[in-house]
Amino acid sequence: MFSFHTKNIYLADLLDDFYDIHCHLLPGVDDGSPDREHSLRLLERMQGMGVKGLYMTPHIIHGAYDNRGEEELRQRFADFGYQGPLDIRLGAEYFIDDKFPEHLEGNPLTMNCRHVLVEFSINGYSLRAFDMLFEATLSGYEIILAHPERYAFVQANGKDKVINLIKQYKLQLNLLSLAGYHGSGAKKYAEQMLRQGLYTFVGTDTHSNAYLDALQRARISKKVFDAVNVLKENNRTLF
Ligand SMILES: [Fe+2]
Repeated sequence: MFSFHTKNIYLADLLDDFYDIHCHLLPGVDDGSPDREHSLRLLERMQGMGVKGLYMTPHIIHGAYDNRGEEELRQRFADFGYQGPLDIRLGAEYFIDDKFPEHLEGNPLTMNCRHVLVEFSINGYSLRAFDMLFEATLSGYEIILAHPERYAFVQANGKDKVINLIKQYKLQLNLLSLAGYHGSGAKKYAEQMLRQGLYTFVGTDTHSNAYLDALQRARISKKVFDAVNVLKENNRTLF
């Protein structure tokens, strides 16, 4: 345990009693953990860092990864058959493309019934994408936009209309954005949006040991620690 008065605070300290809503630990389905053994080691390591539960959120990107959507992912999750102490569930990180509405019309991988984690392309977005998100909310889904601080269109437009557009949705901070892991622009906007109280949720987006190493290396201020710490309660409501 750390003391605010005598020791540095690290991003990893936020994993104490943490419920993660974003990570890529279902083996062999995306750019995250490649196999079962790797996943089990990562899960054990996260447990050792204080994590209590997590949603595995594999990318669902049409044509990009060797997974064919929800039913295959559900089967693979069942086959993974985790029996350890963590509360592990299956969600997904949906890429907003033309196939997204079809996923929602089927049997999507949600968190706490109606919450759907989504991502845009890092480099671009379209108004059609926002139309799809709006239509999803009309269908009763709660949209959680992953790591808004990472998107070029957010960084380019700063405080104005794009922020107003995305803040209609629940926003999820990537912890490592605060360490500059996703670039200096993401760090700047993560800090700014955190100060502005724009985030509802927080995730690690863990793909590999390198992510956990970086969380253990990155020092943060008490102010940042406190601001992120309150988001952890929101994460918990999704379990
Ligand atoms: Fe992700």
